[in-house]
Amino acid sequence: MNNRPRLFEILAGLLATQFIVFGLAIYMLNEPTRIVEAQAQTLSIQIDDAMTLYAENCSVCHGLAGEGIGATPPLDNPALQSMAYDDLAKTIARGRFDTAMPAWSKEDGGPLSDYQISELVALVQSGDWNATQDRVVNLGLAPLVPFTTEPDPALLAEVAKLPDGATLQTAIGIYAANCVACHGADGLGTGIAPALNDPAVREKTADELTRTVTFGNPGTLMAGWDNTLTAEEIDAMVTLVLRWDEVPTGILPAPDVPIPTTAESIALGADLFSANCSRCHGPEGQGTPRAPALNVKAFLTDTSDQAIQQIITQGVPGTAMPTWGDRMTEADIQAIVGFIRQWEPTAPEVAVPTRPGGGGPPWMRNTTNATASGSTQQMNANVQGQGQGQGQTQTPAWWQTLDWRILLLITGGLSVAFTLIFMGYEALRNKKPKDATPS
Ligand code: HEC
Ligand code: HEC
Ligand code: HEC
Repeated sequence: MNNRPRLFEILAGLLATQFIVFGLAIYMLNEPTRIVEAQAQTLSIQIDDAMTLYAENCSVCHGLAGEGIGATPPLDNPALQSMAYDDLAKTIARGRFDTAMPAWSKEDGGPLSDYQISELVALVQSGDWNATQDRVVNLGLAPLVPFTTEPDPALLAEVAKLPDGATLQTAIGIYAANCVACHGADGLGTGIAPALNDPAVREKTADELTRTVTFGNPGTLMAGWDNTLTAEEIDAMVTLVLRWDEVPTGILPAPDVPIPTTAESIALGADLFSANCSRCHGPEGQGTPRAPALNVKAFLTDTSDQAIQQIITQGVPGTAMPTWGDRMTEADIQAIVGFIRQWEPTAPEVAVPTRPGGGGPPWMRNTTNATASGSTQQMNANVQGQGQGQGQTQTPAWWQTLDWRILLLITGGLSVAFTLIFMGYEALRNKKPKDATPS
């Protein structure tokens, strides 16, 4: 044996080095795309969390889709998108002193961690407000939909004849635009704010009421209105509150806003309907001898979403129509209303009730099942499509999908294998002549 390195040893070394260099090169090519993708993925997870946080904590004041309500500013606002990260995080963490904007960080007595606040910053700066609105609706937090209403013109004209009628008219207009969402039609209150048209409130002093409307009640949904309304307008609001008993009923009607829906809420409504309602109202709402049709033009065009929700919640006393409010959440009932409302465009003028006991002709039951499950599947597909659409990236090239650790393993493994093969080959070559000489 001579000491000169063998050709094969050199070759093996070269090959191994080449594999490592090749692996590293692919890894380096890959790295920038990988980082960008990882960042995009983290961001979309953060925004996803933040949409739930927003629905649970912020939508009640800032609106279903960040559009703002009354005195509460919008968050879907370009100025906030370009605001420095720290300033925005600080606003959310510490709140705005002397306004209704509470402090949210645990440090300042709020419920959210610093990480959750950073997620909310990501939502405000690069989130999708349509998707956020869907989240609020899906979580059943849409009952707090902000709404405004139109005062009844005939009744408003009558108010003009009352003493100081112009002031009352002004206040009614402001109430319709800013207060009705919380304090309800005709000032009669809602689940989230007390009645203002109430003898107990009329016993309060004008000063006390002025203070509440001007500065709000910290820690409640009642914001201060001093940024939005002038002193005269606030006086007018207090006059209205104190003299509400003179104002005709019906002047501030409940608005006819459709209940918001999403693909998920309609799918839920369809499931709930077939589980709870179809045995009386028919699988497609076409009615049975036990209960009237719901899938008819006249009923759907004449009945607002609010009215249908009311009927389902309270039932119809003295009939077989049960009270569903004890058994279902408000979100469930709204999902059913959204599902029923979908029939309106195709609803027949006259419904043909199915026979009792589900004994309808077989072809009818088949089509029913087919359309029901078909549409649900389609909706699920839509939902999934939307979800995937968010973090959309182009399909990566094959080498972009390789993890660097796998690459190193493969190249390392190959070099070791080649080295072993060549060493084995060398050993064989050195052995042969020795074996041959003795004989
Ligand atoms: C009780 C009502 C209320 C709630 C709940 C609320 N906010 Fe606010 N928010 C306000 C008000 C009022 C202001 C305006 C303060 C001011 O006048 O500067 C505000 C201001 C803001 C601002 C600054 C807007 C700007 O244009 O300067 C941000 C950002 C904000 N809120 C985020 C949030 C987030 C995120 C949440 C949920 C974690 C939330 N808010 C919950 C009432 C609320
Ligand atoms: C986001 C919901 C919301 C909006 C919008 C709102 N309020 Fe309120 N308001 C409340 C809540 C909640 C309270 C009860 C606060 C408390 O518990 O102290 C309240 C309390 C009041 C009170 C005190 C009632 C009492 O019994 O002392 C007055 C007066 C009042 N609001 C007037 C108004 C006026 C006027 C507007 C419109 C310019 C308005 N509010 C808009 C939620 C709201
Ligand atoms: C046990 C039978 C029964 C079940 C189950 C039932 N209903 Fe009814 N429903 C009735 C009857 C009977 C009426 C008619 C009441 C009347 O005479 O005004 C009715 C009336 C209604 C109306 C008003 C229709 C109109 O023309 O005024 C609506 C809306 C309605 N039901 C929705 C539902 C929904 C949604 C469900 C399922 C959550 C449901 N019902 C479950 C028996 C039932």
